[in-house]
Amino acid sequence: MIESHVGVVISQYKRYYYALIVSNLYILRTKMSDKRKILATSALIYANGPLHIGHLIEYIQTDVWCRFQKMRGHQCLYICGSDAHGTPIMLQARRHNISPEELIEKMHQGFVADFAEFAIEFDSFQSSHSKQNQILAADIYQGLEAHGDIVSKTIEQAFDPEESMFLPDRFVKGSCPKCSAEDQYGDSCENCGATYSPLELKNSSSVISGSTPIAKKSEHLFFDLPKYQDKLKQWIAAGHLQEQIANKLSEWFTAGLQQWDISRDAPYFGFEIPGHPGKYFYVWLDAPIAYLAILKEYCEQQNLDYNDFMKIDSDVELYHFIGKDIVYFHSLFWPAILMGSNLRTPTAIFAHGFLTINGKKMSKSRGTFIKARTYLNHLDAEYLRYYYAAKLNSHIEDIDLNMDDFQARVNSDLVGKVVNIASRCAKFINKDFNNQLAATLHNPELWEKFTAQSNIIAELYEKLEYNHAMREIMALADLANQYIDEQKPWTLRKQADQAENVQAICSMGLNLFKVLITYLKPVLPKLATDVEAFLNIPELTWMDSGTALLNHSINTFKPLMQRIEKDKVMAMLDEAQQEAAIASASQQQTENQKNNLDNGLLTNNPIKDTIAIDDFTKLDLRIVKIIQAEHVEGADKLLKLQVDIGGETRQIFSGIKKAFQPEDLIGKYTVIVANLAPRKMRFGLSEGMMIFAGSDGDLWLIEPQDGAQPGMPVQ
Ligand code: 2FM
Ligand code: ZN
Repeated sequence: MIESHVGVVISQYKRYYYALIVSNLYILRTKMSDKRKILATSALIYANGPLHIGHLIEYIQTDVWCRFQKMRGHQCLYICGSDAHGTPIMLQARRHNISPEELIEKMHQGFVADFAEFAIEFDSFQSSHSKQNQILAADIYQGLEAHGDIVSKTIEQAFDPEESMFLPDRFVKGSCPKCSAEDQYGDSCENCGATYSPLELKNSSSVISGSTPIAKKSEHLFFDLPKYQDKLKQWIAAGHLQEQIANKLSEWFTAGLQQWDISRDAPYFGFEIPGHPGKYFYVWLDAPIAYLAILKEYCEQQNLDYNDFMKIDSDVELYHFIGKDIVYFHSLFWPAILMGSNLRTPTAIFAHGFLTINGKKMSKSRGTFIKARTYLNHLDAEYLRYYYAAKLNSHIEDIDLNMDDFQARVNSDLVGKVVNIASRCAKFINKDFNNQLAATLHNPELWEKFTAQSNIIAELYEKLEYNHAMREIMALADLANQYIDEQKPWTLRKQADQAENVQAICSMGLNLFKVLITYLKPVLPKLATDVEAFLNIPELTWMDSGTALLNHSINTFKPLMQRIEKDKVMAMLDEAQQEAAIASASQQQTENQKNNLDNGLLTNNPIKDTIAIDDFTKLDLRIVKIIQAEHVEGADKLLKLQVDIGGETRQIFSGIKKAFQPEDLIGKYTVIVANLAPRKMRFGLSEGMMIFAGSDGDLWLIEPQDGAQPGMPVQ
C-alpha cells in the first residue's frame, strides 16, 4: 500500500498539462491561461409542437458537452431558445382561437419545464420573438442591404384566394406533375422524388381552405448567397465541418448556389422588414440571429462584452449543434450572413442524425411518437440521457432506440454495474466503521488504472465520441466489481481480525465509484448530485477524478437509481398510443368541420383499405353489459369500465371521458373487441377494447336490440 493524500490531482486535458512522477504519485500542473472561452448553441426549437424524445438527442448531446467543458473549468455558455415565427405558428394559433403571442408563450413555458426535468442546463433560453431579436435582425438586414447583399425580384407563387394569402410549399397539395401520385406536397414527391414548385402540382388545393390556389406575383427580397461562394469555399476548406457535411456542400456548390428568398408577404407572424411595409423576415432569417440576440441579452445581464464573442478576431470558440436536416441553413446561409455583417464565423458545426424507434421513424400511427412529457410521466430522464450518450458519436448517424435494449442497457450498466459498487461497499462503512473511510488506498495499481483514464475519457467527450467514453467507463466499472468479487468483504467481515481490511476494501470500492461518477457526471448530473451528498463532498469537477477520499466521513447510503421495469415502458408506449389516437381523431374532426362541404359522413371519413375475410374473422366482437364505470384518478382522458361478457367480468380502460359521464354508461349493453391482447397500462390491466360510433368527443354507444345477451358473438 502507498500513502495518498486528499487533494492530489491526477487529471487534466492533455494539451494543457505536464506530469511529473514523484514517488508513485502523479502531480499535474495546469496553466491558468488555458481556460477556454466557449459559446455553444442547440437549434432553437420550433414552437408549434411539443418537445419529443427525437429532439432530445441534440439537447442531450449539447448539454453533456457543455457540462463537460464547465467541469473542466472552462468558460462555456450554452444558449438556446424557442423559434417563434412563421406560417405554421400563425395558423395553429388561429385554429385555437388565440393570438400567436399567446401560443408561443404557452409553448415556451412548456419547453422550459420539459428541458428542466431532462436536466438540460441552458445559460439562457429565450424566445426568438423578442425586442432584442427584432432590433438585431433589423440591424443585420440593414447592414447587408448597405453592403449590396440584398436584391429585390418579382416572383410568382401559389396564392389562396379564399384566405388571401400566399401559400408556403407545404401548404399546397395535389398530384405529382411527373408521376401523378396523389396527395403530394408542393415541394417534392414522396413517390418518385421529383422536386417542383407548388404551381406545377396537378389538381392542387390549399391545405388551409381547400380552395384551388391561383398564381400571383409579388416582390421579394433575396440575400445574394452566390456572392459569398468563394469565401464560403475557403471557410469550408479550413475544416470547420464534419467530413460528411463538407462533401454534401461540394455537391451543392457544383449544382450552383441560389439567391435566398428572405421575405414573406403579410399575413405572416414575424418581424416586419424595415423599409418594406407588409413584408416580413422569413423565419429562417431571424432564427439564427436569435442565437446572437439571446447572447447579447445574457452579456448585458452578466456584464460580459458581447463584441468579445462576435468580433471578427474573437478568441471565443463558437459551436452550433444541429440536426442533419438544417445543415444548409447553418453551413451556408448563416456563415455568409455573418461574413456580410463583418462578424466572426462558427468554429465548428456539429450535425447529428435522427432518432428511430425499433428501427423505424418515430410515428404517431405506430404509437412511437413520444413526447418528452409522456416519457417523464413514466421514466427517469437520466435513463434516456445515458442511453443516448451510450449511442452517440461524432458522425451523422441515426440513433435507434430499441425499447428492450434501452431497458437492458440501463439496468445492466447503471444499476447493475455502477450504482451496485456503492451499494456493495457503503453498507459496511456505514454499519461497521461509523461512516469512516480508511486512511490508505487498498489497491494503488487499480486506482492508477482508473485515474489514468481521465485524459482518454476527456478526449472522447471533447470529440463527441460519447459512446466510446461510456464503453471505457463501463470497462472500469467491470474492474471495480471484479475487485470487490475477489476481495469478498462480506466474508472477511465474519473474521474479527479482518476489520481493517474490510474498511480498506470498501473504501477502495467507494473511491473507484467516485471516479466513475466524476466521469459520468456530464451525462448523469442528478446521480452525481446525489452521490456528492452521499459521499459528503463538494460538487465534483473533472480534476476530482484524481483525488482519493481518505480518512473521510461519508453519509448513510440511500438507493441511487431504480431498475427500469418493463411495465413502466409499456405504460409510456400506451400513453403515447392513446395520445396519437386522440390527436388523429381530433384532427379528423377539425378537417371535417373545416371542409364543411357537407359531402356526407362517408366522404369525410373515407373507408379504409380493403382487408381479407381472414383478417376480419380474427376479430372476436362480443356483446357486453357495462356494470361499472368510473373516473381514473390522474388520467385526463380515461374511464375505467367493468363489463360483463357472459359469466366473466373484464376491466377495460377507454379514452372516452370527454364523451360520457360514467353514470350514463352503467347498465348499458354494447360491443367490445374481446380478443385484443391485454395491455398493461399505468392504471392497471385493460382486457379488451370498447368500440363506438363517431370520433373524439362525439361518440355514440353501439347498443344491440333488446334481447341480446352478454357474451353473444357479433358477426
Ligand atoms: O429546424 C428547426 O426546428 C428550427 N426551429 C431550427 C432553428 S435553428 C436556428 F437557426 F435558430
Ligand atoms: Zn412523383
